[in-house]
Amino acid sequence: MNSYIGIDLGTSAVKLLLMDEQGQILNIVSRDYPLLFPHPGWSEQDPEEWIRAVWEGIPLLLEGHDAAKVRGIGAGGQMHGLVVLDAEDKVIRPAILWNDGRTAEETDWLNQEVGKDKLRGYTANIAFAGFTAPKLLWMKVHEPENFARISKIMLPKDYVNYRLTGVHASDVSDASGMLLFDVKHKTWSKEMLKICGVREAQMPRVCESAAAIGRLLPEAARALGLPEDVIVCAGAGDNAAAAVGTGTVGEGACNISLGTSGTLFISSKKFTVDAQNALHAFAHADGGWHLMGCMLSAASCNKWLLEDIFGTQDYAGEMAAVAETKLGRNRVFFLPYLMGERSPINDTSARGSFIGMTMDTSRADLEQAVLEGVAFALRDSLEVARAQGIRIESSKICGGGAKSALWRRIIANVLNLRLEIPVSEQGPGMGGAMLAMVACGAYPDVESVCRALVRVKETVEPEPELSALYEDRYQRFKLLYPALRDVFPKLS
Ligand code: XUL
Repeated sequence: MNSYIGIDLGTSAVKLLLMDEQGQILNIVSRDYPLLFPHPGWSEQDPEEWIRAVWEGIPLLLEGHDAAKVRGIGAGGQMHGLVVLDAEDKVIRPAILWNDGRTAEETDWLNQEVGKDKLRGYTANIAFAGFTAPKLLWMKVHEPENFARISKIMLPKDYVNYRLTGVHASDVSDASGMLLFDVKHKTWSKEMLKICGVREAQMPRVCESAAAIGRLLPEAARALGLPEDVIVCAGAGDNAAAAVGTGTVGEGACNISLGTSGTLFISSKKFTVDAQNALHAFAHADGGWHLMGCMLSAASCNKWLLEDIFGTQDYAGEMAAVAETKLGRNRVFFLPYLMGERSPINDTSARGSFIGMTMDTSRADLEQAVLEGVAFALRDSLEVARAQGIRIESSKICGGGAKSALWRRIIANVLNLRLEIPVSEQGPGMGGAMLAMVACGAYPDVESVCRALVRVKETVEPEPELSALYEDRYQRFKLLYPALRDVFPKLS
């Protein structure tokens, strides 16, 4: 049977997945790469590390499988990262990532001076520090010699696709996160390109996510051990790809992704914008659109607490220490703003904080507070959607954090949503492989491949009593950020 490779180009690792046409996952391989924090709040990565990881990983993925059966490759990639290439297509400087907070000034300038109304008109969105356009403005001022050398502006997974095919292309979902793209009409915004001082010739061609952009370059095929006729599709931003991987397509479906970032993704057939632009209005990989809230630190908060602070890898043990009787009754709160925050507060100065500790606070209370703090912050985005009149009663959930039954239960009760757990939590990689299937003609469109391949294995229902306790906790959580908002900028 034909098979397909899905690439999940994440922030700390690439996860590669080999899947057959019936949706069976044949193999998964993961390769880590370093994340660079050259200054507090900055976040960079060397694009060559992505290439090294993918080039090492694919031959391992294929071990024991028939490479001749591989038909297509599709990637879901970390969004918004700025990759700049010179006239020889060489990377000019490390990529500036989605969770980089250096562009507070440029973001304010765009929102205040250009003005939110104009930005909304041009792109359907306002400026957030992680988006690509403010990074270009930053580079223009702080690294004019680099800015002057830019020949092509790429996003992370598009750079990997370029190295696979030699084609400069992007897709509508990922292009949406640049603040250079007119999301409603799915074209580059001439006004935004002008504001950022770049030309359309410097931008990649934009395709629908399931469109084929080319075939493997002979040298890439040789190095990876794949046939040269393998098709590479445009792929998608990791959240849109994860939505495909969990079957979150069409009208009103919801997906929560608990990875390094935490996102709430609401799929729509129509183009919609939330009145405050607290949620992003982006194109979806299924041909439609979506609204999305993105928190910058989600599963990464738990990793930080357990590995960096507690010095343990025993995630299961730490979570098992959280007492059943404490659920909904924790007096310790955690604000998960370790990298500042995007949705819905849009504040690069916000910082992670534990509040409410007493002499009897335990290690398990802190762990519980972190799991709950992430859930409360996701609820903040859900509240924005609810205020728009969007009714959501259930959601899929994926990402590394979704493997924890405790965390899923906390989220179901804090958000008061039924959670559906897909058979695989490999959202973006699976979505990437599914997009490649459509590009190769194995399925007619994205909705069909989702209908055929996505299965739910388990459902987590909110429990009325626990939800009520968490409702009370959430109302208290909501008091904390407004009380600290003016303090955070004074701390650094
Ligand atoms: C979405 C976002 C993150 C990254 C993480 O807007 O910035 O979810 O895509 O990879």
